[in-house]
Amino acid sequence: MKVIIVKDQNAGGKAGYEVFANAIEEGATVFGLATGGTPETTYQEIVKSDLDFSKCTSINLDEYVGLSATDPQSYHHYMQEHLFENKPFKKSYLPDGQATDENAELKAYDQTIQDNPIDLQLLGIGTNGHIGFNEPGSDFKGQTHKVKLTDSTIAANARYFEDETQVPHYAYSMGIGSIMQAKKILLEAYGENKAEAIAATVQGPVSEECPASILQTHPDVTLIIDEAAAKLLK
Ligand code: F6R
Repeated sequence: MKVIIVKDQNAGGKAGYEVFANAIEEGATVFGLATGGTPETTYQEIVKSDLDFSKCTSINLDEYVGLSATDPQSYHHYMQEHLFENKPFKKSYLPDGQATDENAELKAYDQTIQDNPIDLQLLGIGTNGHIGFNEPGSDFKGQTHKVKLTDSTIAANARYFEDETQVPHYAYSMGIGSIMQAKKILLEAYGENKAEAIAATVQGPVSEECPASILQTHPDVTLIIDEAAAKLLK
């Protein structure tokens, strides 16, 4: 793992942008994307830049079960607002939160990932070490599946909703097995509340208790973290 420590999330956004720019230069065309607070500054830097994704494909990590693509809290909406309306991709995939045939949706999403091998996967990390919505205990070989969100994830994501009762309890998430197939992985983390998860990811045992610890076994992982998130690294 390559660990880059930056001063703060703004500096992290610039460093994250560089990873995207280099990947494009090296011929990357398929990007695995994340939502949440962490990638916002990277997306801001990309939006300001002249990077062109019009011939590229994006595949997002996850979506809440039950939310429509136009729901302001949905990850479809987040991606539209933070990236796609300024940087359109040729094709963008997110799980359909309102799929009527759940199993067909999960299978189709895996097929999409197989058909479009991911060149660069962007990840955030939960305070409990989750990547995508793969909570502690998730199968390291897992594919796209329906996840029951933990109380800590629901509490952490409540900041985007009117109150905690509005947060969906289930999500569809790309599995860890699929994430690990990406050629290159970029994980970003900012703030002291991520310090424990980062220490477990980088220096802990590879254990399903900290899903992100599996990244130690991937050949090409870059971590961009701020000083606060790096605080517990030895
Ligand atoms: C988002 C995702 C999650 C987040 C994680 C951190 O698509 O898959 O794993 O990356 O929950 O969220 P933030 O960045 O809001 O702290």
